[in-house]
Amino acid sequence: MTTQNKTETSAWHRLLETRLTRRSALGGAAATAAMVSLPLTIAEASTNNGAPATVDPKKVKPQTVAPFRPIPVGSADALTLPTGYRSQVLAPWGEVFTADGREIGFNHDYVGYFPIDMLEGGQSSTEALLTINHEYVNAMYVGGETKERTPAQIKAEMQAMGVSVVRVKKDGGRWTIVPDPRNRRIDALTDIELTGPVRGTAAVKGATMVRGTVGNCSGGQTPWGTLLTCEENVDGYTKSWAGSGYEAMHQGWVTEIDPFDPAWTPKKRTGMGRFRHENVAVTVAKDGRVVGYMGDDMQDACVYKFVSRGKYDPRNRAANRDLLTDGDLYVANFGNGTWVLLDYDKTKGLQEAKGADGKPLFTSQADVLADARASALAVGGTPVDRPEDIEIHPRTGEVYVALTNNSKHGNYFGQIIKFREDGDDWGAQKFLWEVFAVGGPQSGFASPDNLVFDPYGNLWMVTDNSDLATNPIKAFHGNNAMFFFATEGPDAGKAHRFAIGPVDAEMTGPVWSPDGKTLFLSIQHPGEDSESLDRPRSTFAAKSGTNVPRPTLVAIEGFPGWKA
Ligand code: FEO
Ligand code: CA
Ligand code: CA
Repeated sequence: MTTQNKTETSAWHRLLETRLTRRSALGGAAATAAMVSLPLTIAEASTNNGAPATVDPKKVKPQTVAPFRPIPVGSADALTLPTGYRSQVLAPWGEVFTADGREIGFNHDYVGYFPIDMLEGGQSSTEALLTINHEYVNAMYVGGETKERTPAQIKAEMQAMGVSVVRVKKDGGRWTIVPDPRNRRIDALTDIELTGPVRGTAAVKGATMVRGTVGNCSGGQTPWGTLLTCEENVDGYTKSWAGSGYEAMHQGWVTEIDPFDPAWTPKKRTGMGRFRHENVAVTVAKDGRVVGYMGDDMQDACVYKFVSRGKYDPRNRAANRDLLTDGDLYVANFGNGTWVLLDYDKTKGLQEAKGADGKPLFTSQADVLADARASALAVGGTPVDRPEDIEIHPRTGEVYVALTNNSKHGNYFGQIIKFREDGDDWGAQKFLWEVFAVGGPQSGFASPDNLVFDPYGNLWMVTDNSDLATNPIKAFHGNNAMFFFATEGPDAGKAHRFAIGPVDAEMTGPVWSPDGKTLFLSIQHPGEDSESLDRPRSTFAAKSGTNVPRPTLVAIEGFPGWKA
């Protein structure tokens, strides 16, 4: 396995070089222009993280000029926006928002926008159930930091993770949280059902029900109005929550939650594999099967595609809620542009894979899914540079992947690649890929993380340079920022800085209201590198009378909105 990893890893960098050479020979804009005008046959392309938009992307004219004057690099302890834009703190950590006194969790990440009238076919842009992922906690802020955590501290941390479902309303230009019986927390203590091939197997110690969801990074929205929350970094809690009963193999999955139905038990979809799940970009293949693109956010890890067994039926929500239980998991081989099936019974490479000790790596499909990373590498999945978010272009159907960086290979700046499925069908077995944008001083951005499209096909991206304080990025990048890229026209692939986050913060989870007038954005871990609460490096969103920074959701206004 180790030898193969090394070979495949250097193969990825050779592949990148080839694509970069080809891109500069063609010219970025020319290469991009050649890719446009791909007819979409299915309306469910996941623009806006899968949240609806009030215009049909296939009917709007591209507007490839940024609707703002780009701002220069900055390092202020503030959310800095272009002239004409303003923000408000909407759902900060610690805010009580349920009838039973539950609080908004810590370190906000992915945000899902579910119009309040969505199940009746509406697309309200002024009232919604928002889902907010809470990725991890900083012990200094949550529960108190001691060498040995007490049960009370562990419980406080477990309750600060997971997902908040929050009803919000816009009135007089301002958003507020409003009471609703569906306002609730799903956290590291909530009962969740395991579904799919790994349910009840030895890989999960026979479990069919498990406790909690953690490491909730990015995610996705399904066409039937459920949230997919992705469990990314889950292994560290075995040690820090020792004695709590935490079970790491019960985490690291995709969990489906129905924001509209608190009585529906959340489901972990084991058929989508266990790895460091960053996100799921959901769409529908030509034959009606549901497709989810997913990244494994780790150095030298892979890009995956899940294809459901059953077909999407817009009139049968109850049946759709079971669609992600069964399906096929594939891994991307970027060397030959193929999707390699991860099915123990059908894939010889999985049956024959052996560990360093000469023993079989897998003996069942449950083994394959429970260690999808090893399975992927065993059958030629290409290890790439930390796949973060994935989104589908709403006009061309191309799939964009943020590869954030890979310090193992000196790739500090990352890149955004895109691929197009064979026959313009997301259910295809083959694809063609190319480089869309490359991070670095020449482009002004580094470490691309979350992506979201607008209906015109412009890409909006937030960076995550959080773990790379000693690398060359800070010198040209300043604080983490949000960028706009046209994907067609003369400026395609050029980064325009829209927003700059507070000190130490990462901006995450961008999503629009369907009319495009509000951008919801998470401000994660402001002041994270502070050594003590007495001397915080940031005071962003602190309660009045205190200096303690708070992770929060913000609502940004000032956009012109979509025009058909
Ligand atoms: Fe939680 Fe990969 O970002
Ligand atoms: Ca991320
Ligand atoms: Ca996204």
